[in-house]
Amino acid sequence: MEWKKEVEKVLREIDQFEVTKEQDLLSFKERFLSKGGLVGKLSSLIREVPKEEKADLGKALNTIKTKAQQKYETLKQKLEEEKNRFKCPKDISLPASDTLKISLHPITQTLNSIIDIFKKLNFTIAEGPEIEDDWHNFTALNIPEDHPARDMQDTFYIQLDPPILLRTHTSPVQIRTMESSKPPIRIIAPGRVYRNETVSARSHVQFHQVEGLVVGENVSIIDLKATLDWFAKQFFGPETKTRYRVSFFPFTEPSFEMDVSCTLCNGQGCNVCKYTGWLEILGCGMVDPAVLENCKIDPKQYSGFAFGIGIERLAMLKFGIKDIRLFFWNDFAFLNKF
Ligand code: DAH
Repeated sequence: MEWKKEVEKVLREIDQFEVTKEQDLLSFKERFLSKGGLVGKLSSLIREVPKEEKADLGKALNTIKTKAQQKYETLKQKLEEEKNRFKCPKDISLPASDTLKISLHPITQTLNSIIDIFKKLNFTIAEGPEIEDDWHNFTALNIPEDHPARDMQDTFYIQLDPPILLRTHTSPVQIRTMESSKPPIRIIAPGRVYRNETVSARSHVQFHQVEGLVVGENVSIIDLKATLDWFAKQFFGPETKTRYRVSFFPFTEPSFEMDVSCTLCNGQGCNVCKYTGWLEILGCGMVDPAVLENCKIDPKQYSGFAFGIGIERLAMLKFGIKDIRLFFWNDFAFLNKF
């Protein structure tokens, strides 16, 4: 029964065989499963063994064949999985594969287009902290103590005394810029803002704004209108019309809300513009002299205009998105569309 030892040896070898690379798998195939391989060699013993042992050897050979075949499949699968897991290119400077779609978040894309437009008018970018004090978020902006914007409902307070809060708008960057630099000033300030609101398809506790501020000698309402009309045409297309409705903001006087002709129905009326033909895009106005004074800028010498754009609103209109929450869900199915 010499062959039994041989069979056991081969079975053990099959069991212990490990693969780390493609070449190992080929070696396995060669050693056990090929014509001249060990299994084949054992099979030829069938002619030599005594008659009464032939059946046993036959069974053992079947076991070995199945075992080698199964092991081969397992090793192949293992290699495949390993290959997929570490699919890092050897040369990481190589361009990414075509099948991997990489794009910027729709909010970033919208923000980038807004920045590109204002850059052409020589605006520079200013930044401010998301955690603010009462002076920059409210007081210096002429928002009095009893103004509803200070209500606990709207503002996330981190500390009450002295008040430290998450900024409710990007307007405090106006104050920080005017405190730290002298006119002429021409900045936009993009960033994230927070409000304690019920999350729904139309409102969220976090969103993004772009603030704009221009201060200089003889800056007038004509400059405001020329700048914002040009922005609207650049962003929504050359046919876009604008209109200004009188509004109220504590930090601008006079204040307006700017509408653009509906981008979907070209002003004809549809469900997006609620059949008015117009879409509200931003708030704006001439900087209130009291705000200039708060920042030690002489309102007799200087004047300015300011505006605040909601980025989510523009992105929703640009991409036809109906639910603001989609921007924050990190859902791949949604993000892959952009
Ligand atoms: N800060 C205002 C808001 O969050 C938006 C705004 C309106 C900003 C008018 C301005 C402005 O600079 O002039 O609702």
